[in-house]
Amino acid sequence: MGGMDGKHPDYDHLQRAAKDHLWMHFTRHSTYDTSDVPIIVRGEGAYIWDANGKRYLDALAGLFVSQLGHGRTELADAAAKQARELAFMPLWSYAHPGAIELAERVAGYAPGDLNRVFFTSGGGEAVETAWKLAKNYFKLVGKPMKHKVISRAIAYHGTTQGALSITGLPMLKQQFEPLVPSTFRVPNTNFYRAPANTAGADDTDVEAFGRWAADQIAVAIENEGPDTVAAVFLEPVQNAGGCFPPPPGYFQRVREICDEYDVLLVSDEVICAFGRLGHWFGAERYGYQPDMITCAKGITSGYAPLGAMIASDKLMEPFLKGHESFAHGYTFGGHPVSTAVAMANLDIFENEKVLENVRDNEGAFRSTLERLKDLPIVGDVRGDGYFYGIELVKDKDTKETFNDEESEKLLRGFLSKALYDEGLYCRADDRGDPVVQLAPPLICTQEHFDEIEQILRVVLDKASTLL
Ligand SMILES: Cc1ncc(COP(=O)(O)O)c(C=O)c1O
Repeated sequence: MGGMDGKHPDYDHLQRAAKDHLWMHFTRHSTYDTSDVPIIVRGEGAYIWDANGKRYLDALAGLFVSQLGHGRTELADAAAKQARELAFMPLWSYAHPGAIELAERVAGYAPGDLNRVFFTSGGGEAVETAWKLAKNYFKLVGKPMKHKVISRAIAYHGTTQGALSITGLPMLKQQFEPLVPSTFRVPNTNFYRAPANTAGADDTDVEAFGRWAADQIAVAIENEGPDTVAAVFLEPVQNAGGCFPPPPGYFQRVREICDEYDVLLVSDEVICAFGRLGHWFGAERYGYQPDMITCAKGITSGYAPLGAMIASDKLMEPFLKGHESFAHGYTFGGHPVSTAVAMANLDIFENEKVLENVRDNEGAFRSTLERLKDLPIVGDVRGDGYFYGIELVKDKDTKETFNDEESEKLLRGFLSKALYDEGLYCRADDRGDPVVQLAPPLICTQEHFDEIEQILRVVLDKASTLL
């Protein structure tokens, strides 16, 4: 699958230099002792090409980023035009038109009174910003003890030390301890693996499960002491663990709890915003009102790096008086090139009805992926919008999962490479139970869904016979 396009003229040098000098992120470098580093050289639409000239369907939108797909010259042109006009100006007491216009536009899309936009360079910085704002806000309004954060098991919120502390993945944290103290975990909304007696008498009541999961936040707040808890960080659909959508009513109950205890609700939408779920923001899709939204990735479709923390008017209010200021910032937060690209990106979203495309096609995406449920290894297909996880199991009837050794053999030893060899770029992940993660560009239609399904079918079928 995938046409050939000719080998990169500098292939051998690139391979050598990658191995000798490039420190890749979250990468087991020893893998490349015996194989080539996959080097991606170009992209067009939903496809990317490697340095051997082989084509892949980009079924992860890079890393939940490339909403419009690759090769959009309008976005490249917007970046070049801005770099020529004003390449750089920080937002430290100064402003530039791109940041002003983008802040106004994003505030217009954001739900309710989320009207204040603080730009960062990426998602982790947006999460850091939200936590720091929560702490600082409560100090200014006379509740100085409120500083702790609650988040969910297996959730990923970034790698800087504050964001990593909020992250619920012990495997990513322990080597960096001690991290920033004062964060606590509650259960996530993995309905497929709902603990016994949380989903009604016959284990099928998803709303009861949602109420239970939300109520665990109240339990955690009580356990920690409401006067010490500042915020709860939740993704609309949790990514790590393989796409856990919120049960109906979950966020409504979380909102009630946050109001009751005066705890800020932060919607971490680094993945879920800008169309991934068919709306500007996931909070809109699930009908809840956060106090802050953190976002990044899709805001520029990856043509330049940018993140943002969007806060309610209430949260900025104490900073508008006298000598107060939020003593926080990033040199590259709201970079002029990035904000210009974001404006052009959002123009295309509107002109080409990208959100509508996701809403019109998400049912087809779901039903195409659900065809895979006939394979013995496919335990669950879950997600919303253009954001899915396929959980792999050893035994479908008992939902038995793989042990560490099997998971290693299955995911690292076979799946990742086999999917890639067959022309599908996506992610086989075992930060929770083993899952294949899918988040294609938002321009994808049935032909792409079919291609994803066909490749997965071939590879997962082979995988079932391995163990
Ligand atoms: C929900 C969530 N929060 C935060 C982050 C961190 O973003 P970044 O890698 O841009 O720092 C990510 C990254 O994938 C994410 O998915």
